[in-house]
Amino acid sequence: MKDILILAIESSCDETAAAVLKNGREVLSNVVLSQIEKHKLFGGVVPEIASRMHIEEIDSTVDKALKEANITMDDVDAVAVTSAPGLIGSLLVGVNYAKSLCFVHNKPLVPVHHLRGHVASNYIAFKDLEPPFICLIASGGHSHIVKVKSYTDFEIIGKTRDDAAGEAFDKVARAMGMSYPGGVSIDKCAKLGDKNAYKLPKPHLDTKYDFSFSGLKTAVLNTLNNASQKGEEVNKNDLCASFQNTVCEILTDKLFLAAEDFNFKKVVVAGGVSANSGLRDMLKNKADKLGFELFFPPLSLCGDNAAMIGSQGYYEFLSGVRAPLSLNAYATMSIENLNWQK
Ligand code: KG4
Ligand code: ZN
Repeated sequence: MKDILILAIESSCDETAAAVLKNGREVLSNVVLSQIEKHKLFGGVVPEIASRMHIEEIDSTVDKALKEANITMDDVDAVAVTSAPGLIGSLLVGVNYAKSLCFVHNKPLVPVHHLRGHVASNYIAFKDLEPPFICLIASGGHSHIVKVKSYTDFEIIGKTRDDAAGEAFDKVARAMGMSYPGGVSIDKCAKLGDKNAYKLPKPHLDTKYDFSFSGLKTAVLNTLNNASQKGEEVNKNDLCASFQNTVCEILTDKLFLAAEDFNFKKVVVAGGVSANSGLRDMLKNKADKLGFELFFPPLSLCGDNAAMIGSQGYYEFLSGVRAPLSLNAYATMSIENLNWQK
């Protein structure tokens, strides 16, 4: 069978990224240009700055991805692009660039859902991994437990009612004066702290697989405020360790509960928060204890990148997904029902 080459573009948040994938699993190039240093100055992503930086970098990033893969547009079978969800101004840059490429080179355009891409980062790392499996997707904007029934058939069985896990990390870190992205900073400090030092609350929800992180976040903010009112010092490492451990317990417990209830043996984790060292350790221990097969991406593929979009784009392409050149970008869209022609 002829090899299929996908050129993938990702610009949904603060990474300008392009990659070339061979047959969905082999990464020929993966160029990621992070804007983090710029956004750090403001304590978080500034959407307008992100869009403007994408506009400046997208052309050279795509060019670099093609060069590193040692191919030209003539060799490309389709262009895959993150079209939802994300920052709208950022998404539009990638989508519009991909549309122009498809128009000029007469290539099929394949829209990709960003969270489906995160799941697919595991296909790159584990060549034999195939659906069905259960997956925890924990990123800056989303926290979902999803049944991945096939490469293109997803069912959400749990999600956050308020803050996403990554968002809680970012907000707590900001309140403690730590730098963006908060998850990375908290992860570092947590390694030096005592996870039992602070007793923090877990939510009691009437649905088994849903999450809620805003109460926990507020509890940390209250701890900080109370200490500052009394003129006391908070042990930041201890508070980070206690907060991180509570988030990890919530994510781990719900994920394995769902895996047991729905009879999945394969458990997969994806999204920026899957880089968390405490979460990775806790998941490994629990998977070993309960006898599950556990998969999570290498650190290089946990955050936003275009290789994961190319991998998912390949499977969307095989299933016949194509978009017209009138394709728009969408700030929100469910991972379940994709509608690229609203
Ligand atoms: O998937 P991602 O790169 O972008 C989105 O699609 O949102 O996720 C970014 C999120 C941020 O909230 C960041 O703080 C979090 O992932 N994150 C982490 C770690 N590294 C990144 N959270 C906890 N521990 C980490 N080591
Ligand atoms: Zn992401």
